[in-house]
Amino acid sequence: MAILTKAPRGTQDVLPAQSYKWREMERMFMETAQLFGFREIRFPVFEHTELFNRSVGDTTDVVQKEMYTFEDKGGRSLTLRPEGTAGALRAVLENGLLNEILPLKVSYLANCFRYEKPQAGRLREFHQFGVEMLGAADPASDAQMIALARTLLDNLQLRRQVQLEINSIGCPECRAHYQQALHKYLSAHSDGLCDTCKQRLEKNPMRIFDCKNLECATIAGNAPTILEYLCKDCDDHFEELQKHLKATKINFCVNPKIVRGLDYYTRTVFEFVSSDIGAQGTVCGGGRYDGLVELLGGPPTPAIGFAMGLERLLMILEKRKRKSVFQAPKPCNLYIGSTGKLTQRRSEQLCMALRAVGLQVESDTMGRSVKAQMKYANKLGAQFSCILGEEEIAKKLIEVRRMEDGKIFEVPLTDLAISRFLYCTHNWEDGRQDRGGDED
Ligand code: HAM
Repeated sequence: MAILTKAPRGTQDVLPAQSYKWREMERMFMETAQLFGFREIRFPVFEHTELFNRSVGDTTDVVQKEMYTFEDKGGRSLTLRPEGTAGALRAVLENGLLNEILPLKVSYLANCFRYEKPQAGRLREFHQFGVEMLGAADPASDAQMIALARTLLDNLQLRRQVQLEINSIGCPECRAHYQQALHKYLSAHSDGLCDTCKQRLEKNPMRIFDCKNLECATIAGNAPTILEYLCKDCDDHFEELQKHLKATKINFCVNPKIVRGLDYYTRTVFEFVSSDIGAQGTVCGGGRYDGLVELLGGPPTPAIGFAMGLERLLMILEKRKRKSVFQAPKPCNLYIGSTGKLTQRRSEQLCMALRAVGLQVESDTMGRSVKAQMKYANKLGAQFSCILGEEEIAKKLIEVRRMEDGKIFEVPLTDLAISRFLYCTHNWEDGRQDRGGDED
């Protein structure tokens, strides 16, 4: 049955040849976020459906079309998280973290689920690295978040490949004025809009900026922009943010068409975009969401955050000709072959002792011939190999072969001597061989 060996549409396996890149990227992100004061938070893969309806918003594509919602055996409606912000905030509120010192800064790695039409860079299960800062309203916090995103991308050596675009979508008051103006404009052009946008026009006209339909995009392109409608406070906030970005030499362009696909945003919104990976070029999206904490039942709390799509970032990195930013996994240090049952057991004992001091060592687990074992060691890319036979055990000496050039080194058959040899091969070559080793 093909279904048994075929992953569900829109999902992706991460195989050993790639997984180290994921691990490295995740580690880099977490460590860098820590430098900015963020601490990791973990929260469930599924939440009550209502949480996403409320926060992401009833009129968004995510809630209307893309959520993986199911009823559990207790009759509750649950949803696999389509994004991280809602769950992170729910966890913060439930555990009273807002009573701690503010701003509260949390970071997370989250696999997310959206029932979208899969294409390059768009999956049904995808992975986000996200950060949320709660309690800060000052534009300096917007600037710090953007600086963090920029640093993460720079650390991946993506400074030139990924550009920052910013916008302000105002507060609920100035946005209401804008939406009226937009509604008026779009109503006059409604004949050219697709059916979805005709519906959007009534429910949430700003969603029209998300439409990929060419005719809708042309109409949206000539629409009035939110920036013309910002109130003084929102305008000042946006201006101040730009001053901060200039002061920290973060390049940006203002794109008044960025509205973001989720309902909770207020004022600053931003995206980091690449033109290298086709239509799904937004690798990072975020913004301020000053009303969301209160909407979820918490105290009025300004907040801002962003999330990066790990798959999209890896796609850009794969496309690049330059040397990988990720260190390939270390090769096997030593393969200890054996000549029979007894020596096989002894070699595994040695392996255990060497692993305990941090060396990567392998031994035979297949009962292979010595020749086949050496072939295997070669394929593994082991740096050194040796064969443990009864003679070696009797002599308490073993010949260790450096695979790269075939050079042989004679080493006392103790874990201490072998580990010293592996850690200080060069000293051995210089003739300063330590033949000690007495722990056995
Ligand atoms: P978002 O723009 O929906 O924002 O997603 C953030 C990033 O996740 C995108 O820029 C993209 O890289 C990646 N992404 C989204 N959908 C997919 C998909 N179907 N396949 C692959 N990658 C995808 C949020 O989720 C907000 N929670 C970000 C945020 C945090 N805003 C404030 N705090």
